[in-house]
Order: sequence, then structure tokens, then C-alpha cells
Amino acid sequence: MEQYIIKGGTPLVGEVQIGGAKNAALAILAAAIMTDETVTIDNLPDVNDINVLLEAMAGIGATIQRVDRHTVKINGGGVRDFSIEYDYIKKIRASYYLLGALLGKYNKAEVALPGGCNIGSRPIDQHLKGFKAIGAEVVIEHGKIIAEAEQLTGTHLYFDVVSVGATINVMMAAAMADGTTIMENVAKEPHVVDVANFLNSMGANIRGAGTDVIKIKGVSKLHKTEYSIIPDQIEAGTFMMAAAATQGDIMVMNVIPKHLEATTAKLVEIGCEVEEFDDAVRVVAKGRLKHTQVKTLPYPGFPTDMQPQMGVTLALCSGTSTITESIFENRFKYLDELARMGANIKVEGNSATIEGVEQFSGARVSAPDLRAGAALCIAGLAAEGITIVDDIVYIQRGYEQFEEKLRNLGGMIEKVSSEKEIQKFKFKVG
Ligand code: EPZ
Repeated sequence: MEQYIIKGGTPLVGEVQIGGAKNAALAILAAAIMTDETVTIDNLPDVNDINVLLEAMAGIGATIQRVDRHTVKINGGGVRDFSIEYDYIKKIRASYYLLGALLGKYNKAEVALPGGCNIGSRPIDQHLKGFKAIGAEVVIEHGKIIAEAEQLTGTHLYFDVVSVGATINVMMAAAMADGTTIMENVAKEPHVVDVANFLNSMGANIRGAGTDVIKIKGVSKLHKTEYSIIPDQIEAGTFMMAAAATQGDIMVMNVIPKHLEATTAKLVEIGCEVEEFDDAVRVVAKGRLKHTQVKTLPYPGFPTDMQPQMGVTLALCSGTSTITESIFENRFKYLDELARMGANIKVEGNSATIEGVEQFSGARVSAPDLRAGAALCIAGLAAEGITIVDDIVYIQRGYEQFEEKLRNLGGMIEKVSSEKEIQKFKFKVG
């Protein structure tokens, strides 16, 4: 089992390049099978979640050609199987985007029902509500969602909950429906806009993505395109927080600063200097940072995917901070691990009260999920002594070359898989 071993206490300094947005890429790859022509997608992050989804797509007959590490050509003309098995859904929930894509193109899809996951129960009722609203018959049988329609038909629908996944999934299906669909109370995340832009580049007619209302005029056919995925705002935010927590100075390159505003605002509030450039942000932390309040909300609010990284940073700030997690009920598990490193935190329901400490001390901790795992690595880099992070498979699902990027910033971190390698690292760092 691979682990990260970290010797903390060195401020991270330098430049880091941000890759393509994982959560945009997952939906865009699924949508690529909605044409029989070949689609080229660039700025794809090379992370495990993406590779598993590509496998699932190949499994139903799509032709996948990896041109290079960050570029893929997809041809959905050979898709003959409309059923995605539980093995894929279990590994990667977002394979459910194939439901919207297959339903839109072929009026039929079967996808295993995803269960809960480490961050919460994660219902998909809003996805199903949307599919039904545009005319699909949806049943759940033997652990599968089976969606089918004679013809999908545009309609006016209102989501009860702001959901990224439901917005994207229903938008994909409605892109090829007959007539106009108006979706209200939709998610406004940058990746929702990116998927809409991608579908439009294939000939769809989608307006309003990025606002509360999306209007989709269905088209009967989509065509080939070449598309570059937007930068990953959560990867970028993670490195911004790494600068803050380690008292560092990081230039985060290849980003869209507008997408990072909620993170930037909190960093400024706690006393960091944040400088914005056209496609970069620089975060400088000098001296002890100070407490604040954070509540996670749908975009443009503070992202739930940045909550653990913020929590780690606040645990080192002076004074008492609070975090309210309003999106997923189970996203505080990392705080128990952080307590093992000396953090002083009390959780009640969906709120955490954090009394800042001067420093963490290195300990052995486990990554409970993707973002929390990245946050614990940041904690290790800020801590005195050695930290070992277990279960890094979660981190590898969504961060490309995480340890290499941190090492380039001066972080002492290595991937190890044996006691011998751990001893070698300890010997090397002294
Ligand atoms: C996406 O998940 C992301 N995943 C998550 O990122 C991210 O945390 C989340 O959006 C919120 O920003 C992908 O894009 C693949 P939601 P998603 O539907 O789409 C409730 C990461 O670390 N809800 O916007 O599943 C739900 O329970 C991952 O990269 C319903 O009630 O999130 C939650 O409280 C983790 N019914 C809220 O809505 C539904 O049908 C928002 O969830 C759907 C959702």
C-alpha cells in the first residue's frame, strides 16, 4: 500500500502549474459519446478517476485513443451497449454522467445505482426527477437505474436542490430532446459552464449556463469538436492553501482567477497577500495568520471541495475559527486525524469550532477522501517532524503528480510503499 511520507516545517515557495478540471473532464468525456464523429479533448488531467471513466466508455464500445498524457480522441460511433456496470460506478460515481449522455443520444440507458460514499449519503433524486420531466421512464431494478424514452421532450423544470451533477446530467440529455427545456435553480459552478460550452461546440444550443436558469433548445444531431478543458479551481485552491498553511509564497499558474474568488477572499481575510494576474495568482503568507468564519455553499460561495484545506489552515491561525459544512454531512472526518497532529477542534453537527495552535506535530494519519487527503498532506508539510499519510489512493484519484508538484515547491514529500523506503526517507531528511 502506497503512503506519503512528509518532513514538514519548510515554507513552500515557487511556481506550480495547474492541470485541467477533473470534475469538468468527467462530464465532458461522457458527453463526447453523444456524436458518432471523433471528438478531441485537451487539457485532460491524468488522474485515476479519468482513466477509470475512459475504461467504462471503452467497455460500452467507444473508441478511445490517448494522443498524449493530456489529450484524448473519442469516437462514440461504435457504442452498442447502453449499460454501465456497478464495478465502474463503485470506483467512480461520476460514471453516472453516461446516463444523461446515453439517454440523450440513444433514448436508453442503464447505469448501476451509486451508493453513498465517504463524504455523505449522496442521493440522485434530482437527476432522476429531471430525466422524468423530459419524458423518460425511469425505474430502479436490481440495483440499476433504467431510463428509457420513445422521445425526450423539452419542458420547464425546477430543481429542489442546487446540484452540480443533476444540472449537468439533465442538461446533456435535454441537449438532444425535442423542443426547449428550461431548467431553474441550477448549479452555476465553472464546470457546469464548461460542459455547456463543450456541448455547444458540438452543435448544441444551450444558453444561460453560469446563471440560475439554463435554456436548452434540443438539436437532433451533434458533431465533432476540439475542446480544451478549463483549469481545475480546486487543485489551484489546494496549492493556494498550501502557501498559507506553510507560510510560503506560491505562484499558482494556468488558472482563471475569477473561479478562485471565494478562496482568495478567505485567504485575504486571514491575512495573506493574494495578487491576481491574467492567468495566475500569487499567495504570500508572512507571520501568523488570523481566524475567520467559513460556510460552504454552491458556487460562487465557498466550495465544499476546499473545506478541508481551509480547515487545516485555520487550525494554525490565531484565535477561534468556525466552519459550517452545508453541502455534505460527512466531510469533517479529517478533523479527527488532524487532532492527532495537535489541532484543537470540536465538531457539533455540521459545524466545527477551531482553536488555532502555533504548530502541528507530525503523526501517522489516514486520508478519508480526496480533498481531505490533500489537506492532511498540507498539514504534514506545515508540521514539525515526520507525517505519514495512509490511503493516498484517494488523493491519486484527483491530483496529478501531487507529490512532484509539492517537491518542486520545496516540500519534502515522497511516495513510499515499504518500511525500507520510509527509513531511507528519514535518513535522507535527517
Ligand atoms: C460534485 O458532486 C463534485 N463531483 C464534488 O466533488 C463536489 O463536492 C460537489 O459537486 C459539490 O460541489 C463531481 O463533479 C464529479 P451535488 P455532485 O449534486 O454533483 C444534494 C471532489 O472532491 N443532492 O452538487 O455529486 C447532495 O446530497 C468531489 O472532487 C440531492 O439532494 O454534488 C448535496 O448535499 C467530491 N439530490 C448537494 O445536493 C441529488 O439528486 C450538492 O451535491 C443530487 C444532489
